Amino acid sequence: MKRFKLICLLILFFTFYLQLYPLYSQELEDNNCLSCHTNNTSAIQEKPPHLIDKEVLESSVHQDLDCIYCHSDIKEVPHKEELKKVDCSQCHYDTSEEFAKSIHGESGKKSIQDLPACTDCHGKHDIYAKTDTRSLVYHININETCIKCHGDPKIIERHPLPSPGFVKRYRESVHGRCPDISREPECATCSDCHGSHDVYAASDPRSKIFHGNVPNTCRKCHKDISEVYYRSVHGKAIKSGIKEAAVCTDCHGEHTIQALTDPKSSVYKGAISKTCSACHDSEKIVMKFGLSTDRAKSFYDSYHGLAFRGGDLSVANCASCHGWHDILPSSAPQSSIHPKNLPQTCGKCHPATKTGLIIGKVHVMEKAEEHFLLRFFRDFYLVLIPLVIGAMMINNLADYFRKLITSTSLTHSPTQREYRILRMNLNERIQHGILLSTFIVLAYSGFALKYPDTWWVIPFNLLGGESMRKAVHRWSAFVFILNSIYHLCYISLFKSIP
Ligand code: HEC
Ligand code: HEC
Ligand code: HEC
Ligand code: HEC
Ligand code: HEC
Ligand code: HEC
Ligand code: HEC
Ligand code: HEC
Ligand code: HEC
Ligand code: HEC
Ligand code: HEC
Repeated sequence: MKRFKLICLLILFFTFYLQLYPLYSQELEDNNCLSCHTNNTSAIQEKPPHLIDKEVLESSVHQDLDCIYCHSDIKEVPHKEELKKVDCSQCHYDTSEEFAKSIHGESGKKSIQDLPACTDCHGKHDIYAKTDTRSLVYHININETCIKCHGDPKIIERHPLPSPGFVKRYRESVHGRCPDISREPECATCSDCHGSHDVYAASDPRSKIFHGNVPNTCRKCHKDISEVYYRSVHGKAIKSGIKEAAVCTDCHGEHTIQALTDPKSSVYKGAISKTCSACHDSEKIVMKFGLSTDRAKSFYDSYHGLAFRGGDLSVANCASCHGWHDILPSSAPQSSIHPKNLPQTCGKCHPATKTGLIIGKVHVMEKAEEHFLLRFFRDFYLVLIPLVIGAMMINNLADYFRKLITSTSLTHSPTQREYRILRMNLNERIQHGILLSTFIVLAYSGFALKYPDTWWVIPFNLLGGESMRKAVHRWSAFVFILNSIYHLCYISLFKSIP
């Protein structure tokens, strides 16, 4: 009897054990979950369970985790219908905390719709290490992960976000052309500039794209340039907290950065002067920092500026004289515009023999600042032109009156007609014809340099722009001078002054 009691007790214990065991261990084991979630037919419920792909989970970075580690609110099976969302923060504590502070997380607390959850950027069961090419956050897959929302017009409409067009421009930019894996190192993705979990609005000083932080963000890949930049007048100003100074994106753009050789680039030869002028022409900035005024106007009025407006890109622009990443004020001895360094700076384009002659004030503001040679020629011309034209007019008028007098005093007898003076022979007429036409062409092509935007310059623009204007101006000057020399020889050899 005692034995029976023991057996009964044992049976009772085992029944109890067998009843409890499945509840606390077997039923919550993966296989048990999978029996329903991979095999639909076994379920008799009216609502068929979601099927999951076991192999996906087993190939993922979480392959060693049991189902209930993530689905931690399941305490029994069958489980209740409504389950909580998986809370990744139970294991990824630091990341989740960082993320919660970001614009994607922080705003979430204010119940803003459309904000990403961990699963939007990482997947659910298909989460892989960031070094795995299958991962949604593998370097070159990141763009598409962000563009899912930031390229979706419906989401953008509901938020103060840049319009979807920026995605297209980014894809065409030098950083965005990286869909194929062979060009991976050439790519800067959204996260390279914005961060991944620590994304903030541009106005937030914690943001990687906050104005003053931009050079540091680009530094990740453009290290040497950033170092040079930080030693420049703009870089030093940014370091000391002057937010008006230029950072990389002020000159290059952000999502639209193009190769230097691309005419669409903001630092292309034809565009850079406009890029600098955006600030150096701004009265607010110029006044605030006591900078030299009218830099843009004085450039556009200079020879280089005039030729540039006429379409000549070989002339100097702001960057060819000032440099770009290493810009320094003229007072700094290393500056490309320090008087000591000017022969070298101008010498890049002008032959060394010539630079000594042409170095004058480049940004010509007041006449008093001009080189004495420039002033001399300007004043000389101011006297010479009225003198020559005035004398010519007096001469012509006097001649006309004389003709008038002689023609009225003459009668029409054939003998008298022989007294008429032949003023010019054919040779002389050709000389004067050439003089007249080259003078007109010179004046026309000269004024075309000064006023490149006017309608009467159209013929030049049609025929090749500044290079054509230059050629026409110089050839006519050549012919003009040749003609003058010929004329001098002619009168000294064949004409005896009466
Ligand atoms: C007896 C079959 C069965 C077993 C065993 C089972 N489930 Fe389910 N599960 C279901 C059914 C049916 C649904 C669908 C219910 C619904 O959509 O409301 C479901 C839904 C789910 C959902 C989705 C819930 C939602 O809110 O959409 C998750 C997650 C889940 N199960 C996880 C598990 C895990 C983890 C286990 C193992 C511990 C498990 N299930 C075991 C039948 C089962
Ligand atoms: C790394 C964590 C993790 C593990 C481990 C995990 N899941 Fe999930 N599971 C998720 C996430 C995340 C979702 C998406 C829904 C959510 O956010 O709660 C999900 C969704 C589901 C769903 C709903 C169907 C769907 O596609 O939305 C089922 C069913 C499910 N899991 C079953 C399982 C089963 C069974 C296992 C074990 C074999 C398992 N899960 C292991 C994270 C996990
Ligand atoms: C807006 C998209 C986005 C969201 C939302 C997001 N992540 Fe990430 N996560 C990324 C990117 C991008 C990387 C890769 C970063 C890199 O290459 O350095 C990453 C990397 C990771 C890594 C790898 C380790 C590391 O930090 O480099 C973990 C772990 C991680 N995320 C967890 C999470 C968790 C947990 C959440 C939710 C709290 C989350 N992520 C939300 C985009 C996101
Ligand atoms: C139960 C703990 C746990 C939960 C919950 C969990 N993870 Fe993990 N996760 C881990 C562990 C452990 C690893 C490291 C695996 C390894 O390195 O082999 C990992 C790795 C990762 C990685 C890869 C990190 C890398 O090196 O690139 C990402 C991404 C990630 N988890 C995202 C998530 C997301 C998103 C969730 C929520 C849906 C989540 N995890 C939920 C434990 C967890
Ligand atoms: C699930 C959709 C979703 C995904 C995925 C997503 N975002 Fe966002 N993001 C948003 C929404 C919505 C906001 C607007 C929040 C608000 O209204 O304040 C936002 C805001 C931002 C902002 C701040 C914009 C501003 O005007 O202040 C930046 C920057 C940003 N996201 C970058 C990223 C990057 C980088 C990624 C990829 C790593 C990414 N986002 C992935 C939905 C998303
Ligand atoms: C080369 C760096 C770079 C890359 C790559 C880049 N961005 Fe930006 N992005 C910036 C900068 C810099 C700004 C700030 C512009 C400003 O100051 O207003 C910005 C602005 C934004 C804004 C508006 C932020 C705000 O607060 O106004 C969003 C949203 C955004 N970017 C999303 C993206 C997405 C999505 C991608 C990838 C498809 C991406 N960006 C790629 C540098 C970058
Ligand atoms: C004041 C305007 C300006 C600023 C600020 C500026 N750049 Fe530039 N950058 C230029 C110009 C102009 C060129 C083109 C020079 C040429 O035509 O060769 C250039 C060229 C480049 C090039 C390609 C040529 C090379 O030198 O390798 C890169 C890359 C570049 N910049 C990155 C940056 C980065 C990164 C920053 C910030 C740390 C920055 N730039 C700041 C004006 C600027
Ligand atoms: C993740 C690395 C990375 C980051 C961050 C990055 N770049 Fe780049 N950048 C590159 C690579 C790689 C190239 C060359 C692409 C090519 O050759 O097609 C490039 C090209 C350029 C060029 C064109 C150079 C040329 O020779 O035509 C400019 C300008 C430039 N980057 C400026 C910037 C600026 C400004 C930032 C910061 C807002 C920045 N980059 C951030 C990697 C990066
Ligand atoms: C985003 C506005 C901005 C842009 C674009 C910009 N600058 Fe500046 N620049 C400044 C500011 C502000 C200062 C004054 C910094 C200071 O005094 O600390 C400055 C200073 C200078 C100085 C020194 C002036 C002096 O008298 O000390 C030179 C030279 C200069 N910039 C040339 C350029 C050139 C050339 C470009 C184009 C390649 C350019 N800048 C583009 C804002 C800009
Ligand atoms: C042909 C060469 C050349 C070009 C082109 C040129 N500069 Fe200058 N720039 C100089 C020289 C030389 C100085 C110093 C002497 C002076 O002030 O005239 C100077 C002075 C300056 C200064 C004052 C710096 C100081 O320390 O005194 C600023 C600012 C400036 N330039 C901006 C610009 C901007 C903006 C452009 C384009 C719109 C431009 N420059 C085009 C040669 C040039
Ligand atoms: C990027 C090249 C470049 C740089 C740098 C440059 N110039 Fe020029 N400059 C030109 C070109 C091209 C012409 C037109 C010459 C021609 O058509 O023969 C020109 C014309 C001139 C002219 C008109 C007279 C002439 O020779 O045709 C003067 C004066 C002049 N430059 C002065 C300077 C000074 C001073 C500097 C230095 C502060 C300078 N330039 C730097 C390219 C440059």
